[in-house]
Amino acid sequence: MAFSSFSYYNTLWILISKLKMALFLCSFLFLLVSSATACYRCVHQTKAAYFSKAPALSSGACGYGSLALGLSGGHLAAAVPSIYKDGAGCGSCFQIRCKNATLCTKQGTKVITSDLNHNNQTDFVLSSRAFMAMAQKGLGQDILKHGIVDVEYKRVPCEYKNQNLALRVEESSQKPHYLAVKVLYQGGQTEIVAIDVAQVGSSNWSFLTRNYGAVWDTSRVPAGALQFRFVVTGGFDGKMVWAKNVLPADWKPGMVYDTKVQISDIAQEGCSPCDDGIWK
Ligand SMILES: *[C@@H]1O[C@H](CO)[C@@H](O)[C@H](O)[C@H]1NC(C)=O
Ligand SMILES: *[C@@H]1O[C@H](CO)[C@@H](O)[C@H](O)[C@H]1NC(C)=O
Ligand SMILES: *[C@@H]1O[C@H](CO)[C@@H](O)[C@H](O)[C@H]1NC(C)=O
Repeated sequence: MAFSSFSYYNTLWILISKLKMALFLCSFLFLLVSSATACYRCVHQTKAAYFSKAPALSSGACGYGSLALGLSGGHLAAAVPSIYKDGAGCGSCFQIRCKNATLCTKQGTKVITSDLNHNNQTDFVLSSRAFMAMAQKGLGQDILKHGIVDVEYKRVPCEYKNQNLALRVEESSQKPHYLAVKVLYQGGQTEIVAIDVAQVGSSNWSFLTRNYGAVWDTSRVPAGALQFRFVVTGGFDGKMVWAKNVLPADWKPGMVYDTKVQISDIAQEGCSPCDDGIWK
């Protein structure tokens, strides 16, 4: 009897700890959700300025370096902290148009977040190429003269034609103790919230942590060829994306490796009313 009541309480205790765990997970997910419900896919009004110095954005906080110029046709943006999100917003894409109809086109242009904007007067500071791309044909120099313009923007999926999600092994990596990778060409409209790594064929996963911007690292580096799994989130769901064979056993700093997968999910956000129609 004593034994069975012990096991009864034991079971109860396990149930309670499971419940606590579930509650913890719920509040964790709630945090993820609430941090993602800023409704970026809805139209926002702000001003945008531009960087007069071309290299400014390629040394941006996301760490893309010179690779940034190959992203979104060099249409780069430094975004305010609420969009940059400590680096989780790196690589997110926005459609942005200026509101002066004489000066600018209705569809505006698409930009990718590559830097953090500390200027509190504008949500975005654009590369001059992106800034000029908002203008009507022949008015590129005119828009530069304005310097700062009223704009509206909304988040849009990033589209990479024939380009998978890729990982660049950073120069700071040191076999066999330290691995730092930069996430490149992330499609869709979600954020990566976790990355794990394991040897190909093993289920002994180690997690990476976001070092800064789009760079994640770990000092628990499995040997051999490496697989990765990415947890992406946006809106209400999290999703695991599994890249089964990414780094070869002889991975080298400075190299970019194709993950052979791409993320195309569009986050569903609970925001209404929301003008998320297509700008043409
Ligand atoms: C719109 O742009 C044109 C051309 O640069 C300029 O002449 C006009 O003053 C601008 N309008 C406003 C409201 O800024
Ligand atoms: C914006 O930044 C300037 C200079 O850094 C500061 O003086 C000002 O108070 C800030 N304004 C707001 C609304 O935060
Ligand atoms: C799991 O992987 C980590 C990091 O590579 C390693 O330190 C650890 O010994 C591994 N554990 C097992 C049981 O293989």
